[in-house]
Amino acid sequence: MLRFLTAGESHGPALIAVLDGLPAGLPLVRDDIDRELKRRQHGYGRGGRMKIEQDRVEILSGVRHGRTLGSPISMMIANRDWPNWQQAMAIDPIELTDAEKKRLTRPRPGHADLPGALKYDVDDARDILERASARETTARVAVGAVCKAFLAQIDIAIASHTLSVGASGLPPGTEKTWEEIRAAEGSPLRCADPDVEKRMIEEINRAMGSRDSVGGSFQVVARGVPPGLGSHRHWDMRLNARLAAAICSIQSIKAFSCGSGVESAAASGSEFHDEIFYDQAARRFTRRTNHAGGIEGGMTNGEEIRLRAYVKPLSTLPKALHSVDLKSKEAFDAQVERTDVTAIAAAGVVGEAMTAIVLSEAFLDKFGGDSLGETRRNHQAYLEQLRRY
Ligand SMILES: Cc1cc2nc3c(=O)[nH]c(=O)nc-3n(C[C@H](O)[C@H](O)[C@H](O)COP(=O)(O)O)c2cc1C
Repeated sequence: MLRFLTAGESHGPALIAVLDGLPAGLPLVRDDIDRELKRRQHGYGRGGRMKIEQDRVEILSGVRHGRTLGSPISMMIANRDWPNWQQAMAIDPIELTDAEKKRLTRPRPGHADLPGALKYDVDDARDILERASARETTARVAVGAVCKAFLAQIDIAIASHTLSVGASGLPPGTEKTWEEIRAAEGSPLRCADPDVEKRMIEEINRAMGSRDSVGGSFQVVARGVPPGLGSHRHWDMRLNARLAAAICSIQSIKAFSCGSGVESAAASGSEFHDEIFYDQAARRFTRRTNHAGGIEGGMTNGEEIRLRAYVKPLSTLPKALHSVDLKSKEAFDAQVERTDVTAIAAAGVVGEAMTAIVLSEAFLDKFGGDSLGETRRNHQAYLEQLRRY
């Protein structure tokens, strides 16, 4: 069973992740993880913290001489801003003024501040926001990077690209090829269409000019996935449901679709369903369309997995929104923490990480293996079975 936990506050000393259940013998070096952490920090529309952070992982356990041991992999990513927060986020009790504690009593609409303060019975929403912050996704990206390294060993690759920012985006239903999506790597918003990307940047600049924020959408694509991951047997084994939960667990993601899921509601059956063909030479079943996004009946069907995620505009705006003080109940404009205009490019990288984690879990559910060699042999035997089918 593959499982992971993350810990750490946004302005605490560090973020921590523990990943358990990967086989022994997987080649893994820090660069595999740092590369993904860097990708998460990239993207037009992000603010000052990205310059402070320069995230680097420290692997604390589970790896020896560049190979996994099969024991829990624990990782730490230091918060470079910690020296400025040592007092406000001190572990030990110390005497501080409210200002020194950086108390936040004016909950920001769209954040965890108000529901968290009510739930945990506190009047300083910092106790909540420090953990609710999407800084936590740094640890998830580290876990996802390890899972990507695992998937690469079995020829499964994952990429993402930005589909829209605010009202500017690719026409609904546009499907870019794997190669087009990969070619977008390194562009300001990782959008697979340079003209559309220009309009997206203008959209971000407009939002910045009017002291506002914008949302958007992105697509994650996984290729090389064999048919039969996930199961039709139970609700919690259906891969589309597992992916939906994983993607919607990312801060600010409000909707998810698999394949042309959104368009499916208005399509006729004959338009929507992907007809089945057989390629004699390759000895495999094929499709000419992929409206299902690679998943039918809760199981992968051997086509590319294509997922879309819809991201709300960031909740913290330079232009503060109306709120009410937790203690005095007086009306105020909500307090503004450091914020980005949009984090859409970063959200895509987190989406890739969550997809990698769920696919690794589903892969190991099916093929098991305590060592990478054993996992590989089981996988190869199954591919052989498919060729004989
Ligand atoms: C990579 C990433 C970066 C984010 N950065 C910010 C930010 O700078 N400002 C902000 O208000 N929200 C940011 N968010 C979104 C908030 O963390 C999120 O909206 C908030 O925690 C409430 O959770 P919810 O939107 O899932 O309900 C970011 C989200 C992601 C995925």
